[in-house]
Amino acid sequence: MKAVEVRNKIYWVGAVDWAIRDFHGYETPRGTSYNNYLVLDEEPTLVDTVKHDFADVTLKNIREMIDPGAIKHVIINHIENDHATSVDRVMAASPGATLYMTDRGKKGLARFFDLSGWRIRTVKTGDTLKIGKKTILFLETPMLHWPDSMVSYVQEDKVLFSQDAFGQHIASSARFDDEFIACASLAELEDAVIDYYANILMPFGPLIKAKIAEVVKLGLDLQVIAPDHGIIWRQDPGKIVRMYLDMAEGKATQSVAVIYDTMWRSTEYMTQPIVRGIKDAGLECKVIKLRATPISVAIKEFWKARGTLIGSPTLNNIPFPTIVQFLTYLRGLRAKNRIVGAYGSFGWSGGAIREVYETIRQIGLEAYEPGVEVTYRPAPEDEQKCYDFGAAFAEKVKEYHAKF
Ligand code: FEO
Repeated sequence: MKAVEVRNKIYWVGAVDWAIRDFHGYETPRGTSYNNYLVLDEEPTLVDTVKHDFADVTLKNIREMIDPGAIKHVIINHIENDHATSVDRVMAASPGATLYMTDRGKKGLARFFDLSGWRIRTVKTGDTLKIGKKTILFLETPMLHWPDSMVSYVQEDKVLFSQDAFGQHIASSARFDDEFIACASLAELEDAVIDYYANILMPFGPLIKAKIAEVVKLGLDLQVIAPDHGIIWRQDPGKIVRMYLDMAEGKATQSVAVIYDTMWRSTEYMTQPIVRGIKDAGLECKVIKLRATPISVAIKEFWKARGTLIGSPTLNNIPFPTIVQFLTYLRGLRAKNRIVGAYGSFGWSGGAIREVYETIRQIGLEAYEPGVEVTYRPAPEDEQKCYDFGAAFAEKVKEYHAKF
């Protein structure tokens, strides 16, 4: 895709990655984009680069606008591989440019490249760069989501380059929120935002709230929010800020996710009456079989719902491997404000449910106990027990949800 004007001589010059489905282990069914921006003024400035494989694409887009040798400044908001691994290619094409990044960014980038031949200026919150008529303000955002992270803001045009924050893994010919909503839907855009937040930013809710408060205190008017992935927010940038504030608070819907796996279908047979019980108690329920679903999708559904039931057979006295993988991922994401219960089948001895509950408590989630266990295969009375468990869990979810 060629360069697209975002606002007043600020151009998207990035790359759309239509084919990627595995983003460092995180499934991206919609693909993604690596957004970077060329700000044209007396001193042309490039904001971020792209993933190494797409260096030629961004350089071609830049050449449509100017000779890359004319670039005077290159801002590196975030050094992660999908954004900074083409810095060498960009600097080869723009040898007169100075690089701008945080001190931690410089230390980190030195692990990827020999920096000795490049002019580098480290910046802090409040520093500015005058590039002609436009002024770029820097704001550090450490641990959002890497130590080096920062955002940049064009004061005259009120455009925020937000790096990963407010992004989504979407490959689309649409560049802006209004365009994407017209050709797809608002619901799909929201789903992509939640998917990204749940899998990347879930641990950082308190930091996100504090950073948004800092932006408000600085009085920055965000008329365009231009992230490094996906759709640019120009029609309603307030929407994505509101969504982030809600998610940072741990907002969820009063609904249930049932996330399970099964060996000889006994745990699956338990799932069916459990789901009926939840539905009959009046709550919507999303059912995810882990072996059939990417773990990133399971995490998104977990995050959307106030309550989750985890179903696991016992295999060699511990939970099924996909359940262990899911719980390990969840532990790292430090989920909170969710209530979780467990159920499952076993043969000669149990163990899975005990371990699931141990992990739930270790994460700090609200545990709904006791769970339900069945030997070998559910009998009719077990089905009733499962139905009652689902219905009672739904009632508990309603009660727990009312606290938020
Ligand atoms: Fe899109 Fe943190 O990299």
